[in-house]
Amino acid sequence: EFKNQASIVVFGASGDLAKKKTYPALFGLFCHGELPATVKIIGFARSKMTEEEYKKRISEHFKISENDTQGQEFKTKFLELCSYISAPYDSDEGYVELEKQIDDFDAHHSHDKTQRLFYLALPPSAFITVAKQLKKNVHPREKGHAKLIVEKPFGHDLKSARELQASLAPLWSEDELYRIDHYLGKEMVKNLLVMRFGNEILGAAWNKNHIRSIQITFKEPFGTEGRGGYFDDIGMIRDVIQNHLLQVLTLLTMERPVSNDPEAVRDEKVKVLKAFDTDISLDDDVLLGQYTRSADGTKPAYLDDETVKAGSKCVTYAAIGMQIHNERWEGVPIVLRAGKALDEGKVEIRIQFKQVAKGLFTDVNRNELVMRIQPNEAVYMKLNNKTPGLSLATTTSELDLTYANRYSKDFWIPEAYESLIRDCLLGNHANFVRDDELEISWKLFTPLLEKIEAADGPTPFLYPYGSRGPLEGPEFMKKHGYVKSESNYQWPLTRPS
Ligand code: BG6
Repeated sequence: EFKNQASIVVFGASGDLAKKKTYPALFGLFCHGELPATVKIIGFARSKMTEEEYKKRISEHFKISENDTQGQEFKTKFLELCSYISAPYDSDEGYVELEKQIDDFDAHHSHDKTQRLFYLALPPSAFITVAKQLKKNVHPREKGHAKLIVEKPFGHDLKSARELQASLAPLWSEDELYRIDHYLGKEMVKNLLVMRFGNEILGAAWNKNHIRSIQITFKEPFGTEGRGGYFDDIGMIRDVIQNHLLQVLTLLTMERPVSNDPEAVRDEKVKVLKAFDTDISLDDDVLLGQYTRSADGTKPAYLDDETVKAGSKCVTYAAIGMQIHNERWEGVPIVLRAGKALDEGKVEIRIQFKQVAKGLFTDVNRNELVMRIQPNEAVYMKLNNKTPGLSLATTTSELDLTYANRYSKDFWIPEAYESLIRDCLLGNHANFVRDDELEISWKLFTPLLEKIEAADGPTPFLYPYGSRGPLEGPEFMKKHGYVKSESNYQWPLTRPS
């Protein structure tokens, strides 16, 4: 019954994450009837704001147009559920008020248990303070259920991640904690489980005997505009690779979970993570880059940002060659690469299969399975086909599952945050990061980060804003097992005019 009732409290309610992601996600769920029937949403932050200012701020990024009357009605109804408490994070008063408001709300509804979801849209420096205060003043204890959503950065390296965890663990049990990695809420990432384990044809070929290489690529067409100061201490590996791309890779390479129980999935993720090679060589396995001004001079260099340290060697592009030492993956080269200020925005997984071994057709292109996470979700398999007509020549074509063509426009593909907040309300941990996963992800990348950030660490290669990344990129990919198709393969195909 408690699932039909919840108090959702957003900490950092006046901040950017809350405005851009948390509230629009709550609103999206509300519009689709996916919030509990009885719900109260309380914003909590230090900034002084009137209710009106607060409501204006949190609804700035709602996806509704002026003349969408139904959307406007939903917005009005949603905002009626929202209230705001302005108080310091480190003293009791705001939390006492919060406890009172939630108690009043519970008392006015007939459910016998309370459900409280606390979403910390906060900088890590405030995590522990708020987690402690909540435990002391607002945790429901035997009155019901409590859930705490936290978001990266979960530490800066292995040591700080362990410290953070050591401070949280005595207060909040692993069962109450929901660590968001928003990539786990993306539609195509959630589809990985089905693709791999629901298709015998893929399952049969999913190993070192058939797969030649794996790449996961993250490209963004914009730089760190406006947040350079924050990014400078973080860099591309911590920002995207150690979490988002590693999570995707883990789902792509783990063994079949024994059931669909969330812990069974997370157990398998941990097992494969333990088989990853921790010895990543700076000389052989890593390509680093930083963007400079665009070729036409209109876009700034990373170092032009005044909030960035002068002469910073912070990487805005990184490609990392990885290896998994187990029976399934031994010897298969894997590359995770991510870059800002590139020529396009795209995130995709590319599995390249081996060349035909002998005799006929040894010269045709390798098969490739591509799963495009964004934009425009798609799965396509590059296959060799006879050129139609009298010709016997081969041509590379594809089996194409582009969502926009295959599924009607009415399909709702939830935003990552919508999907994850709903999972949390339902108590499903499958798409959240467990403490042991987090620990191993830091064990994997901390030694490498230390080498890169040492005083005598490498200087990144430069690449112009809007380009495809460092010129050394293709050579690096070749060294790590990726062969570009020989023919003029083109995606999407356009009919010659
Ligand atoms: C965030 C990073 O975690 O993910 C950002 O901090 C990055 O730098 C963002 O832009 C990418 O997320 P998405 O959903 O836009 O691909």
